[in-house]
Amino acid sequence: MIQLENLTKRFGGLTAVNNLSLTVPKGEIFGFLGPNGAGKTTTVKILSGLMQPTSGRALVDGIDVAKDPVAAKRITALVPDEPFVYPKLTGSEFLYFIGDLYAVEPAEQKKRIPELLEQFELAQWEGELLESYSHGMRQKLVIAGVLLRRPSVVLLDEPMVGLDPKSARMVKTILTDLARDGATIFMCTHILEIAERLCGRIGIMYDGSMIEAGTVAQLRARASKELAAGIGSRVTLEDIFLDLTAARQCAPL
Ligand SMILES: Nc1ncnc2c1ncn2[C@@H]1O[C@H](COP(=O)(O)OP(=O)(O)O)[C@@H](O)[C@H]1O
Ligand SMILES: [Mg+2]
Repeated sequence: MIQLENLTKRFGGLTAVNNLSLTVPKGEIFGFLGPNGAGKTTTVKILSGLMQPTSGRALVDGIDVAKDPVAAKRITALVPDEPFVYPKLTGSEFLYFIGDLYAVEPAEQKKRIPELLEQFELAQWEGELLESYSHGMRQKLVIAGVLLRRPSVVLLDEPMVGLDPKSARMVKTILTDLARDGATIFMCTHILEIAERLCGRIGIMYDGSMIEAGTVAQLRARASKELAAGIGSRVTLEDIFLDLTAARQCAPL
């Protein structure tokens, strides 16, 4: 459902994404991890059609995002790291706007928008202008807009940042349900506990390249032997992540 083929993005002399290839099948939650500056957001921007690759291709459901961005955007939803909402719309107006933009049937909008506002505990503020919403409230509204659309591919860039624990728990449940219903989810996250719990597979980016990809069990098996010997079966994704990225930092150039 998501395919990256030798994807490369350069900014002047800097290679932010370096010859990245990856396939994510339908219904998988793929966790995209890596330290700051590893190239995660750049990859998501290319996949969502916000940025053109220098070379290589990004495809969603076989559609080349750079060649046919409208068709790709019709089936893809993005939850960016900074939730963008129109400040002069109210919460309710924003969702109706998203519904119209993505051709959700008016009757369905009328039924589901109040339900979504209720579910995300935003009903109380549905008539307030979005300029008065907190970061977390905006984030929840953007995610409600994603659910309204029922997209096939959901891209999320650090979706839990700014959410209170209850909302974060709700978003985790929502992502699991979406994937179970057949959506494909690609999520950048720094929260390793979330990656470990939610994601079928995990890819670790480092300096524009994916240095490891697999299930947590596979990554655990590949992490250094001393690590496994030292901590045994209680090795967490955090241990693995730090071990694998530290090995890179020490490797000779
Ligand atoms: N628009 C841009 N112009 C120049 N450099 C950029 C731009 N966007 C990202 N970069 C650089 O590309 C690298 C990867 O950034 P990014 O994809 O945001 O990483 P991550 O999301 O993994 O933290 C960083 O070195 C960043 O400074
Ligand atoms: Mg980022």
